[in-house]
Amino acid sequence: MIFKYNMNIIKYFFIIISITIISFPASSDLSVEEIIKGRKALFSKNYSTAKKVQAFSSKGDFNKAKSLMIEMSENYKVLVEYFPENTKEGFKTEALPIIWKKKDEFNNLMEKSSKDMIQLTKVIDTTDDIRGTLQKFMWGNCKACHSKFRAPH
Ligand code: HEC
Repeated sequence: MIFKYNMNIIKYFFIIISITIISFPASSDLSVEEIIKGRKALFSKNYSTAKKVQAFSSKGDFNKAKSLMIEMSENYKVLVEYFPENTKEGFKTEALPIIWKKKDEFNNLMEKSSKDMIQLTKVIDTTDDIRGTLQKFMWGNCKACHSKFRAPH
């Protein structure tokens, strides 16, 4: 009886430990190097995805274009988490210090970029100006952010 009771305690102990480990966000375990390199890789990926969005949209292949738009929208949500206070310098980051001085403005731009990609899925197949629409809802946001928050090069 006592033995059985102890086994249950041990079982619950392990369940709680596992839940704690699983529920911690992955980014809290990442080093500064992993975060900076990780965000650079994500931005590069978004760039190549954006070029594909442009190509598929121009060809009228809207289904493929739309699924990539959603992918970009999701990537922006991840990117917001990749600028913690301790990643201001090192590992060739081009992120400018103003990001952390105006964190709300920066995060809002990221959120706007994410929402605009969803908006883009709704308008891309009805517009008669594909280039202008991509400019407005996709490329314009890259430029708006880079011109203020990323080092010129
Ligand atoms: C809200 C801000 C923001 C938006 C929107 C944004 N970027 Fe960036 N981007 C940055 C910042 C900040 C960096 C610098 C990251 C670093 O070096 O740590 C960056 C870096 C990059 C890089 C360089 C990655 C590397 O390997 O160093 C590329 C490429 C890039 N962005 C492409 C894009 C494209 C394309 C878009 C739009 C489709 C876009 N970005 C939208 C803020 C933004």
